[in-house]
Amino acid sequence: MERKLSKLNKIINMSAKICVLTGAGISAESGIPTFRGGGNSAVWKGMPFEQISSARMVRENLDAVWEWFDHRRGVYKDCQPNAAHFALAEWQEKFEDFTLVTQNVDGLHSRAGSKNIIELHGNINRARCEKCGRIYQMKFDEVPHQPDFCENCETKLRPDVVLFGEMLPVEAFQIAEQKARECDIFFIIGTSALVYPAAGLAEIAKFSGAVLVEINPEETSLTNFCDHSLRGKAGDILPNFL
Ligand code: APR
Repeated sequence: MERKLSKLNKIINMSAKICVLTGAGISAESGIPTFRGGGNSAVWKGMPFEQISSARMVRENLDAVWEWFDHRRGVYKDCQPNAAHFALAEWQEKFEDFTLVTQNVDGLHSRAGSKNIIELHGNINRARCEKCGRIYQMKFDEVPHQPDFCENCETKLRPDVVLFGEMLPVEAFQIAEQKARECDIFFIIGTSALVYPAAGLAEIAKFSGAVLVEINPEETSLTNFCDHSLRGKAGDILPNFL
């Protein structure tokens, strides 16, 4: 691992444009369970998370969706960013062009000090009115969520998170795509790379000539596609760079 890290450090120090995609694994060391990994996937009250976290459930039973999200917000509020989050926050200052794209909705990257994060799947500390589009920012430790209804049009608010069966925010994805196309190095950290279009950003970067680096204790569907795949925890590996 030492030799791999020093070789990668040389490549990083010669690079100007860095793009990073993170997934649930980067928050695992903060105590936030991943969705998959180890062959299992998350379940809520007997329902697979893909079902409770879906556009259909928002239509059919928004209260149940909020119960699941408030449960998660209850877990997340007692979790702190870890060494991996802080390392990436530092990287932001070190590169001419640094882009942090995350699939995570836990808000730990911003609590670690990262700025201008592209949150592809939204943020669990925001609620949205589907009628007028108004967004409500909540404090991360404000559980249960407040308010429940839009002050403009009294419509019941929903989590401002991309759920299964929903499109990603178009503008955010377009910027991420462009940064993936332009970067010198693309890191995929703590993601099983099973969910598209987010995982597709790594392929776009690779086809555009970027060096692809993976950090994950387990192999993923993108491992063979990577130039470097570091087997280990993000919190152990990332602080070793730079
Ligand atoms: N450091 C790095 N990677 C880790 C660590 C760690 N300490 N612990 C676990 N991992 C890896 C696992 O091996 C697994 O490959 O993180 C990955 C987590 O994968 P998932 O649970 O599938 O999470 P993610 O890839 O972010 O899921 C993508 O799917 O459920 C939807 O919207 C949700 O954003 C999520 C998307």
